[in-house]
Amino acid sequence: MSILTIRNCLDPILRQKCGPIENIDGNLVALSQDMIETMFDAPGAGLAANQVGIAQRIIVVDLGIGTDKINPVAIVNPEIAAFEEEMTGEEGCLSIPDLFAEVKRAKRVELKGYDLDGNAVRYEAEDHLARAFQHELDHLNGILFWDKLGKIKRDLLKRKFKKKLKEKSP
Ligand code: NI
Repeated sequence: MSILTIRNCLDPILRQKCGPIENIDGNLVALSQDMIETMFDAPGAGLAANQVGIAQRIIVVDLGIGTDKINPVAIVNPEIAAFEEEMTGEEGCLSIPDLFAEVKRAKRVELKGYDLDGNAVRYEAEDHLARAFQHELDHLNGILFWDKLGKIKRDLLKRKFKKKLKEKSP
């Protein structure tokens, strides 16, 4: 396993709609293991393949998010089948490091997809996990969390992000 480089929000691949996965093979299994290792190293609770430079529809999420358990899974070709109610809560992104905002999401979702053996899987999630599912699904469609904000808040975060980037570069 290895830790992959996480692309930041300025990378065009973060704006790309990722393509469906046709074959689950050894490469995909290896990718998902690397993604899980990269997610925990960051540290984060979810990661989409385009964040590590692969424009394909696979996400990894820690199902234990918001609890003291750790339970990472990879989900292939995920889709949200149902959204219920709304909630607002703090959200961040490994591609927009160290910046957070209050984002409105569905409180409960039903997510469908496939595991790495090609079996159909279905998760009912609420609160933190529901937020993580929606956030990672958005990544696969080229959407970032700040797209959910008003223009003024979004522009403020973008300026902060660019400032931090400048501070980091020598
Ligand atoms: Ni993210």
